[in-house]
Amino acid sequence: MDLFEYQARDLFEKHGVPVLKAQVATTPEEAKKAAEDLGGGTVVVKSQVKMGGRGKAGGVKVAKNPEEAEARAKDILGLDIKGHITEKVMIAEGADIAEEYYFSVLLDRSNRTYLAMCSKEGGVEIEQLAEERPEALARIPVSAIDGIDAAKAEEIAKEAGFDAETAAKVAPVLTSLWTVFEKEDASLVEVNPLVKTGAGDIIALDGKVSLDENADFRHEDHEALRDISAENPLELKAKKLDLNYVKLDGQVGIIGNGAGLVMSTLDVVAYAGEKHNDVKPANFLDIGGGASAEVMANGLDVILGDEQVKSVFVNVFGGITACDAVADGIVKALEILGDQATKPLVVRLDGNNVEEGRAILKEAANPLVTLTDTMDGGADKAAELAAAK
Ligand SMILES: Nc1ncnc2c1ncn2[C@@H]1O[C@H](COP(=O)(O)OP(=O)(O)OP(=O)(O)O)[C@@H](O)[C@H]1O
Ligand SMILES: [Mg+2]
Repeated sequence: MDLFEYQARDLFEKHGVPVLKAQVATTPEEAKKAAEDLGGGTVVVKSQVKMGGRGKAGGVKVAKNPEEAEARAKDILGLDIKGHITEKVMIAEGADIAEEYYFSVLLDRSNRTYLAMCSKEGGVEIEQLAEERPEALARIPVSAIDGIDAAKAEEIAKEAGFDAETAAKVAPVLTSLWTVFEKEDASLVEVNPLVKTGAGDIIALDGKVSLDENADFRHEDHEALRDISAENPLELKAKKLDLNYVKLDGQVGIIGNGAGLVMSTLDVVAYAGEKHNDVKPANFLDIGGGASAEVMANGLDVILGDEQVKSVFVNVFGGITACDAVADGIVKALEILGDQATKPLVVRLDGNNVEEGRAILKEAANPLVTLTDTMDGGADKAAELAAAK
């Protein structure tokens, strides 16, 4: 989960990273009030979107007094930054910037370690720097066990080319940023720019943090950081039901068991769709090993809630959960859903107890259900039904 800058700033503050005072505003009036609360002097009005390059897109503006803050907030609220509309701004104290640095720590899968990156030349041109003069961006592997302690922080600062005096000031901030990374279970912590002020203080002026959702169970407070308004309502519903669901753009709903089978089902449906008005898969949904009636009902409920869906292809390979249990699940799911189930279902069962499973579906004889023998045949039928609607 990616965080907004103001949320990253709060986490920085919590773990002792030096940041500037700031407030969030959703209207120009609130922005004015925030600027007054911050002392009435110079502030910076910053678009809060989960997208880099805000400064270059006109989303970061200096305001000398609360009236200007109100005017700048008026300009920036609603501003479209690479497809992300600004709904909130952060009003931050204005910093007296002497130098801008760059620091990030992230997961380096290819190297099976973490990776710290640091540069004396931070700021809005960092991407260009990384491309044109990669040697100016130090890259230092960080072990998961040792992390960034004082010695490692010094090593990073030295590799980045800081003079001894600046390195001594930057290093403790790097260890605090590592604390954020480790204690919050982040997969990315990036500060661009990390600045030195005229007075010689080191401050994190911007922050990008991505949290690892696999660790949500040990961070009750992370749920509150979720931006529900930006999430797809069907995906949100599926998440609540503990389903492995990803909404796609097509018309054929897909239910399968096992990620591999579901992925190949998407492929065969997309292929079959080429002959039927170019219909496409509407989602990824893996109901996993234990396809109980309840899980099947939940899955169907989510898929049928997608207005784009015209037909559903259930493709299950019976293993530990045998086909008869899956068939039972489908029959009960259709009972539970009752009138809500109106779209045709193509079902292909194979594997453990396939004959029993088919017999159950035949006996139930639900007019919405078509049984097929093969995966390709099922995909073709589902695509044909979706195209006919
Ligand atoms: N509080 C502040 N006081 C003074 N200047 C600031 C402040 N915040 C940001 N700036 C200036 O605005 C520039 C852009 O701000 P910031 O890095 O927060 O946004 P950004 O453009 O989205 O960053 P990125 O390119 O890293 O995504 C900074 O490099 C800095 O020069
Ligand atoms: Mg930045």
